[in-house]
Amino acid sequence: MRGPRRTEAAHEDLRAAAASDAAARVMAEGAEAAGLAWPLAAWGVHEPVTCASFAERLAANPFLMAPMAGVTDAAYRLMARAGGAALAYSEMVSVTGIHYKSEKTWELVDPNPAEPELAVQLFGADVEHFREAVPLVAERLGERLALLDVNMACPVPKVTKGGAGSALLDTPLLAADIVCAIREELERYGRSELPVTVKIRIGRVPERVVGPEFARLMAAAGASAVAVHGRFASQMYRGESDLAEVRRVVEATDVPVIASGDALDPERAVRLLRESGSAGCFVARGTYGNPWVFGNARALAVGESAVPVTPAMRLAAFRLHVRLLVATGAHIARARSLAGWYLRGVPEAAAWRERAMHCATLEDYLALADELEASLG
Ligand SMILES: Cc1cc2nc3c(=O)[nH]c(=O)nc-3n(C[C@H](O)[C@H](O)[C@H](O)COP(=O)(O)O)c2cc1C
Repeated sequence: MRGPRRTEAAHEDLRAAAASDAAARVMAEGAEAAGLAWPLAAWGVHEPVTCASFAERLAANPFLMAPMAGVTDAAYRLMARAGGAALAYSEMVSVTGIHYKSEKTWELVDPNPAEPELAVQLFGADVEHFREAVPLVAERLGERLALLDVNMACPVPKVTKGGAGSALLDTPLLAADIVCAIREELERYGRSELPVTVKIRIGRVPERVVGPEFARLMAAAGASAVAVHGRFASQMYRGESDLAEVRRVVEATDVPVIASGDALDPERAVRLLRESGSAGCFVARGTYGNPWVFGNARALAVGESAVPVTPAMRLAAFRLHVRLLVATGAHIARARSLAGWYLRGVPEAAAWRERAMHCATLEDYLALADELEASLG
């Protein structure tokens, strides 16, 4: 879902949007029609997250918006939080990019003013770069930094060839050093209460399952929680996520575990949580065109029924999300994937999605939504 390269003018737009309250206004105008909650306080956003309270937060609401590179920008995270996610994560952020003062990297770190808090996921393989990044990110986000997570799960060769992402599963001592270094830097900075978490896979290849042992080591190094995606890195996103292996990680550690993999709808999110015995559950691809997945999973988890998503709600959410792209300074090109996802459940979906391929501006997308609404009668 990545947009085209940004021009200098587009960077300016982003900076201006990031400093304005445009996103909050768009949310206030459009959330109710889409069946989403605004302001977010309705979902229990009260005090800063701490190591001690992280487990309590998960107990109150275990469904979290997972990090997704190229997807979970500020607009996406706002939709997820308004749909009931307990917390939302940034796209993964390169500590080496921070070291080289990359403007593009910082754009991934900065929350929109409408976001109450943000979990920041870092990636890299250089302990010194992590040490440098911690106070800079903590300074930049202040009280809005909810936690720091380290990506030890990404299977993409561009990331693993430098020893980062899932390659860290092969270098557990380096992974532990990274966690220790982050803890030390947070302490030095005066934010030792912040949770430090890691996201892992169950191994790199099926011949070598490392989940339980690796998770134990990360907890010993100071991780406050471990998120585990029940696939091997070699699978990328193919095949099924192995719930039994996620459960083995839960049984091996005494820190909270966040389960990830195939939480593609509210029912499957609840099943993943229950059957793995995890404290939390990441919803990733299940959020495509479905910000309600969080609230509905939460309802099912406490024995209530899910709220049906009507075509009118889908349309209202699509409009809201596209307007949020503009309000947060994101590239409108991201609306193309959104159209594909939100319009899935409307009558004649294929024809409408094909029409959306020819939209280029916010006005084009809004006009298409108006036409579609009129066709629903
Ligand atoms: C497009 C895409 C981008 C992703 N980017 C990240 C990422 O930056 N960091 C990360 O830890 N996981 C990333 N993931 C993995 C998800 O967080 C999640 O663990 C995985 O998709 C399994 O969950 P699901 O089956 O519910 O989608 C990404 C997944 C997708 C589909």
